[in-house]
Amino acid sequence: MFGASGPVGRAVVERLLGAGWQVLAVSRQPREAGAGLTWLRGELDAPPVLPEAVDAIFSCGPLDAFARWYAGAGLQAPRVVAFGSTSAQAKRDSADAAERALVARLLLAERAVLDTAATRGAAATLLRPTLVYGAGRDASLTRIATLARRWGRFPLPRGATGLRQPVHVDDLAAAAVACLDRPASAGKVYALPGGERLAYREMVARVLGCLDPAPRLLELPPVLFRIAARLGSIMGRGRGLEAVLGRMHSDLVFDDAPARRDLGYTPRAFRPDAAMVTPPPAGGGSDPD
Ligand SMILES: NC(=O)c1ccc[n+]([C@@H]2O[C@H](COP(=O)([O-])OP(=O)(O)OC[C@H]3O[C@@H](n4cnc5c(N)ncnc54)[C@H](OP(=O)(O)O)[C@@H]3O)[C@@H](O)[C@H]2O)c1
Repeated sequence: MFGASGPVGRAVVERLLGAGWQVLAVSRQPREAGAGLTWLRGELDAPPVLPEAVDAIFSCGPLDAFARWYAGAGLQAPRVVAFGSTSAQAKRDSADAAERALVARLLLAERAVLDTAATRGAAATLLRPTLVYGAGRDASLTRIATLARRWGRFPLPRGATGLRQPVHVDDLAAAAVACLDRPASAGKVYALPGGERLAYREMVARVLGCLDPAPRLLELPPVLFRIAARLGSIMGRGRGLEAVLGRMHSDLVFDDAPARRDLGYTPRAFRPDAAMVTPPPAGGGSDPD
């Protein structure tokens, strides 16, 4: 398994261990083994020595590096489950060139994983999460909660009503593990949105509302954010902020019906609590065991 130390990877590891699997995980950092869990030191472009065959390969880290590794890997596995992102769809027409380049890389990598698997007679499934939360390790809602705590308030442009579907890490993990015994998912790409569609401002308001004390949501004229983003981009800081601001008014919604049908996917509604958007204490982010 690759990416096992990330928020999604940890949740997948926990589910696999709970179901009695032995997990072999690759990390760039030294990590402590646990019951059923062995860590190997290495990375996708410089992998450690791996066994000749495993039952399944999970990729919960960078998809492009995984696609490259998998294309050249001698490791036999009848099943491959890899995470990509709904950004492959949502950012296709972005005004930001870096975002369009990301989309191109994601789509190429998805195709490469499916093609490599097909040539080896393996079954691969690609999973595209929306905005991930739940483990206090994400760079979106946890970042918002952290800044809001620091400032005692959180500013948003007025009219940030684009719909979002934040998805909990455990729901993603359940879908990933379900792929192992759902043959209908072979060779397919699934969007994995959260179980509720809500306006961006409501999503942020719920994050603030679960903190104690709850920081205030400050809705300000959008022009102020546009000026700040333009100044930031001239100064070479806050890259991509203009594209992010532009999307706050757009609906980014994805159909979960195929995943419900083929994977038994039943994502939860968005009911964050403080622990879900609070970084674990230093040293408290221990390896899953
Ligand atoms: N977080 C989100 O909001 C979000 C949204 C949509 C899609 N996704 C996708 O969902 C998957 C999981 O997301 P995540 O946020 O849990 O992952 P993540 O934190 O971005 O990455 C997971 C782990 O990947 C490992 N990694 C990074 N570069 C590597 C390399 N070159 N070789 C080997 N391992 C490497 C790192 O582990 P070590 O440090 O232990 O090596 C890292 O902890 C990713 O594919 C991500 O793109 C995430």
